[in-house]
Amino acid sequence: MVDVILGLQWGDEGKGKIVDWFARNYDVIARFQGGPNAGHTLYVGDKKIVLHQIPSGVFHPEAINLIGNGVVLDPVILKKECETLNSFGVDLRNNLFISQRAHLIIPTHRALDKAAELSKGNLKIGSTLKGISPAYMDKTGRNGLRVGDLLDKNFISAYIKLRLKHQKLLENYAFNEDISTWEDEFFEALEFLKEMNIVNGEYFINHQIQSGKKILAEGAQGTMLDIDFGTFPYVTSSNTISAGVCNGLGVAPQKIGDVIGVTKAYCTRVGSGPFPTELTDETGEKLRKLGNEFGATTGRPRRCGWIDLVALKFACMIDGVTKIVMTKADVLDSFENLEICTSYKLNGKESTEIPLQMERLNIEPIYKTFNGWNTNISAAKSYNELPESMKTYVNFIGQYLGVKVQYISNGPGREQLIDVN
Ligand code: GDP
Ligand code: IMO
Ligand code: MG
Repeated sequence: MVDVILGLQWGDEGKGKIVDWFARNYDVIARFQGGPNAGHTLYVGDKKIVLHQIPSGVFHPEAINLIGNGVVLDPVILKKECETLNSFGVDLRNNLFISQRAHLIIPTHRALDKAAELSKGNLKIGSTLKGISPAYMDKTGRNGLRVGDLLDKNFISAYIKLRLKHQKLLENYAFNEDISTWEDEFFEALEFLKEMNIVNGEYFINHQIQSGKKILAEGAQGTMLDIDFGTFPYVTSSNTISAGVCNGLGVAPQKIGDVIGVTKAYCTRVGSGPFPTELTDETGEKLRKLGNEFGATTGRPRRCGWIDLVALKFACMIDGVTKIVMTKADVLDSFENLEICTSYKLNGKESTEIPLQMERLNIEPIYKTFNGWNTNISAAKSYNELPESMKTYVNFIGQYLGVKVQYISNGPGREQLIDVN
């Protein structure tokens, strides 16, 4: 079976830490979508590591890690990540595999991402500028280059053809930054990539399934950034939802087992777009400060607000979530009162559904107020040690969503995770 860990909000829910924790019980950890727009933070001892494309199972030497076909891969960033991991004593030669069908991010994809964002002015998406959208556009536009194509003798001519196409687009944007150093790095990184374990990902993973191995699929971004079901157009360019596991790895739907949804105890978003429960006052500032809410990939301050159960219930429905992990509960330790959004007022009418054009509507969140716990929970090891008012908060969320909050994360540390039983 393939279990899934994915984000239920707008990304940065703490997936990296949770995947690292769960990885002890799995044989294969596989990324199925996204690319270096992701920043997944792990702590190993007191060392902090941010992974962008490599699955968060790498600190378990016996686990195999797979970058699936649904990922868009930047070889330059991959090489840097491998070098960083090497310096931590992690050798990936035997336990990192890359699908030959994963599409490559080439330097002009990054330039196009930047040019497109600049051209949007105030309406910019707030992209991470890693070339994600242009790379997926070339995939669906049937122009892209795949990791496996690297080994083909026609690769260079196909690359030049694609670059020319991009240069014409860049001229239209009047974008004329010199990207020749990016290209030098890119070709150096391609040589590095060629030496890695490039596999037929779909056979690879299905053989693992057939031989009884346990697979964990690791999502990037979050459900509300999904290309189909997120807050379009303020989304990323892939299917971040559980269905993305099937086409991003090549596994059949009936092979999917548990879908473990990760949510913060509150909510954040980085980049533009609708965020009904956003707090632009001192409470939002306090969440940002206590939660250290700055992007792991771009360093941008994250927008902060209360937990939004309308959006979370939508995510649970789309993903078929079977268990919830609530992270960063400790960040709420010092709040007198906590608010939970239970419905929206949309142009005066109450609703518990996510509307089509969230950014165009006047959405007023309706809140239910809870007592804060005013207790430091970061040292707690078991559910019994948690304050009653926190249990009330967590239970209300589980009941509203109809899915149990099975784990509570009470700090960034590797072992700070409480099983609710
Ligand atoms: P991801 O993209 O979903 O993997 O999440 P990020 O790594 O971008 O952001 C999550 C941040 O919260 C990281 O800095 C983590 O170290 C941190 N974190 C994860 N879980 C907890 C938690 O329970 N409490 C606190 N205080 N920090 C946490
Ligand atoms: P992880 O995996 C949070 C956001 C960007 C932007 C939008 C589109 O760490 O949770 P893109 O570069 O994909 O074209 O940007 O999506 N975004 C993320 N926000 N966490 C992420 O990944 C994100 N990846 C992309 O900020 O608003
Ligand atoms: Mg992140």
